Amino acid sequence: MRSLLAFEIPKLAFDVANVVIFAAILVGVALRRRRLAHVRIMTASFVADVLMVAVIELQRGAVAKTLEQARTVSDGLLSFHIFVSVASLALWVYQLVGGRRILHGAGSLSRHRAGAWAFLVFRATNVGTAFFV
Ligand code: HEM
Repeated sequence: MRSLLAFEIPKLAFDVANVVIFAAILVGVALRRRRLAHVRIMTASFVADVLMVAVIELQRGAVAKTLEQARTVSDGLLSFHIFVSVASLALWVYQLVGGRRILHGAGSLSRHRAGAWAFLVFRATNVGTAFFV
């Protein structure tokens, strides 16, 4: 798939960005009791994560690859990586919606906490597998 960007961003840059974003998420979780800091760091990490997927998409056609992979289900590790990445994005949305509800006094902290554990497992697995795909 031809890149839509004027220049090629090296794979190492994506790996470094992925680790940095994951580190920011961990900082945000550590600051979960400081509401404003938590919300700002998590929202910024979400935007950075979505931007990274958008840039990877422009360069490597990640969405097309995901759909193609879903049809062929050949390369095991790539399929697994795509699965945990899509699950992470879905859980981002779940946490964002639930977090905003908590802010407005209507959400459930225990559901947000359960979502946080699931998200961290999938997002950590995404970081771990990204180096090899
Ligand atoms: C995947 C991203 C996120 C993770 C892993 C996460 C994780 C957590 C955790 C572990 C807590 C503590 C729960 C408890 O005390 O039982 C928490 C609290 C909270 N989160 Fe998140 N969160 C995420 C995203 C967000 C977002 C995007 C928002 C808002 C837009 C948000 C808003 C809140 C609020 C308002 C609280 C309560 C803070 C307080 O104790 O006053 N979170 N979060």
